[in-house]
Parts: sequence; C-alpha cells; structure tokens
Amino acid sequence: MLSEWEKVAADARRVLAGNRQRGISAWAGQRYDFVCPSPTTYPFQWFWDSAFHAVALLEVDPELAKQEIRCLMQGARPDGFMPHMLLWEKSAHEAAIREYSITLADPFYTATIQPPVVARAVLRIFEATGDAEFVREVLPPIRRFFRWLKAYRDPDDDSLIAIIQPDESGLDASPKYDRLMSIASGPPEGTLPQLRQGMKHLFETYAPYRADPARIAALDTFTWEDVMVNAIYADGLSCIAKLTDLPNEADEFRARAGRVRAALETKCWDDKVGAFWDLAGWSEEPAKVLTFSSLFPLILDDLDPRKATRLIEEHLLNEREFWLPYPVPSVAATEPSFDPHWRTNTTWRGPTWVNVNWYLYWGLRAHGRRDIASELAERTVGMMARGGIREFYDPLTGEGQGARDFGWSTLVLDLIAAERGSA
Ligand code: GLC
Repeated sequence: MLSEWEKVAADARRVLAGNRQRGISAWAGQRYDFVCPSPTTYPFQWFWDSAFHAVALLEVDPELAKQEIRCLMQGARPDGFMPHMLLWEKSAHEAAIREYSITLADPFYTATIQPPVVARAVLRIFEATGDAEFVREVLPPIRRFFRWLKAYRDPDDDSLIAIIQPDESGLDASPKYDRLMSIASGPPEGTLPQLRQGMKHLFETYAPYRADPARIAALDTFTWEDVMVNAIYADGLSCIAKLTDLPNEADEFRARAGRVRAALETKCWDDKVGAFWDLAGWSEEPAKVLTFSSLFPLILDDLDPRKATRLIEEHLLNEREFWLPYPVPSVAATEPSFDPHWRTNTTWRGPTWVNVNWYLYWGLRAHGRRDIASELAERTVGMMARGGIREFYDPLTGEGQGARDFGWSTLVLDLIAAERGSA
C-alpha cells in the first residue's frame, strides 16, 4: 500500500503534468511551454508561480525546470522589467481582463511585477544539475531585472524596494493592506468588492503615469515596502552573487543583499513585539497587522540569530498565533481579520499556503531548527493528504480551498525529497 507521502507525491506529479500548457502564441508567434497555476482558474504564466514550479519540476525532470524558466524569460523587456503575468493565449484575454484586476502594458503582459523568486529557482536548478551553460543563458535577464528593481522601485534609496499595488507582492488581499486600500472591517462578503474598488482607484490614479513608471511610487497612492518581498529580494541578490562568474559582480550583489537585510533589521524590526512590520506609504508607517510576512526574514541565513530565535519561539511556535493544527496561516489567529474558513472568498486572509511553508521550511533549516522544519513538513504533507493539491488550506481543519490542482502546492515534492534525504 502506498504511504500518505507517496500518495501526495504522486498527486503532485499528476498536477505538474496536467497543468502544462504548450503552443505558439498568437500575439508574438513565440513558442510557449510552461506549467500554469490552475488550468481552470489561472491558465496563464505568473512570475513567482513559475519560479516555484521550476523548483518542484526538479523532482520530475530537471529539463522541464529549465524550460519553465526559459519560457518565463521570454517576457523580459529590454529595460530589465519582468511582468507579473504573461498572457500567452490570445483567446483567453477577454476573460482574464474580466476576472482579474490587472493592468496590461501590452496585450501580452502586465505592467506590474511579482516577487523575484526566480533567482532562487535558478540557483536550485544549478545546484541540482551543475549546468553552467543554462546559467549563462538565463542569468543576464534576471540580473537586469534586479537592477531594474533597484532603479525603479527604491525611490528613497534605503535599499528596500516598494510595490505599488497589493498584488505585486502576490499577496493580493492580505489584511495588512486594508488601511491603505480603504477596506473597512465588516461582514466578510464586503471585503472583495471593496478591494476591487480600491484597485480601480489605483489604476485610474496611475494611468497618466504609465509611460514613465519610475514616477508612480512618488504619487504615494500605494507605495509599500513589504517585508516578504524584500526578504525574497535579498535572498535573490545573494543567489545572483553565487551564480555570477565575475568576482566583482559577486561582491556587488552580496553587498547589496547585506544592505537589504540590514535595512529590514533596522527599519522594519520591532524589538518590543519581536517581529518585522511592512512600511506603508512614503512616510513609512509600520503596518502592524501580524501576518506570516512578519516572520519571513527567517529565510535569510544571515539574519541576526537573536531575531530568528524570537521569531520562532514567540510567534511561529505560538499556538495562539501561527502554530495552528496546519501551520503556517497567512494571518495570525489573533488578528480580527483572520478568516481561516475563507468566508471573505478572497486570498491571503488566514488560510495556509504551501509556498510560504516551503520558504519557512528552508529558513528554519538555515537557522539550525531542523526539528521544527521536519514537523512543519510533516504537517504540510498531512494537510495535503487530507485536502488534496489545492490553492490554500484551512489552517484549523486542513480542508483544501480555492483552485483545485494548484501548481505551486507541488513544492511539497521538494519538502518530501528534503525530508527523505535527511532521514
Ligand atoms: C493569486 C495569488 C497570486 C498568484 C496567482 C496565480 O492571484 O494571490 O500570488 O500568483 O493567484 O496563482
């Protein structure tokens, strides 16, 4: 009989195969071949999803992992910008524009970004395959994108990059953004319409400035230094330092990663609470809503060990906040906005996501907490055995929620391989 772990792994492999999209794009005549987040709900190529898919694909076939990144790189623009969505299929455009709050820079791609997970994915591919030729091929556009982020998204030059609308972090409806998005607390069904209204307002405000995107952050409509995004950015900078073949460039990227980590520690850390806060607006007001983002600098192996210990002991393992039966919830259970059962019908307001667990798993290991990492992996597999390969999960019951056969939940393959390797 198959064990629970084997069943989950087989299901994850099925999803990676079933979500594969292949064809020639009617827009640009380019060939595409990638894994989409969900054929029914999310048929396009999303930036951070694809990076997660590439990591998971390493457990299926490293060539598919490389292909995922190569396909994504076709979206890179000459100035370094990389879009948050590539809408390969022309036939699905109208539906996309109706269903998602997106703004396009071109019929083929969005005008917005998502977290730069891609550098970590390429380092993982290199570590698994030793394929230096592949790195030489994909590193130039990735390096340019990190340079674009510095040039266009750090207007106050404090080393932290800013997002200009909530979904640029990938955490579309997180309650940490409610205040700036004018979302009032109230009945759960009121959240989504308010969010849509807020996005409409942002798009209208930004429209006259789209041709010169460097100015948008200065409008201070939604200028947000997000802890999770910046932790991923710092991690990406140090991955590039490991991937480049020029020693000076390695020094530069390593130093930049250190500056981002230092800025997180000096500007976002709250020593009283023992957690990090995002900085909202041009005035950089700490956004004191406790979400998993507040723990995310754990993914950085050079994070001050004292801070790492406080994050783990006081928050991650706190059964009133994050250490629920199926951790790690996207919002601490102590927050009034915590919505584990998905009553708001929108994302990132309580349920548990596998990409978050994957990052925190490796962060825990980097900080010498293999015991907790293993426990987290075990509960994640248990949750997926119960709930299937879903978009997110009820942190109290493990029930699967959101899209079915969801792409990045297949990161469980990496957790399983890591646990098997360490057995
Ligand atoms: C949702 C998520 C976002 C993800 C996208 C595709 O919008 O909030 O992070 O990239 O779906 O899966």
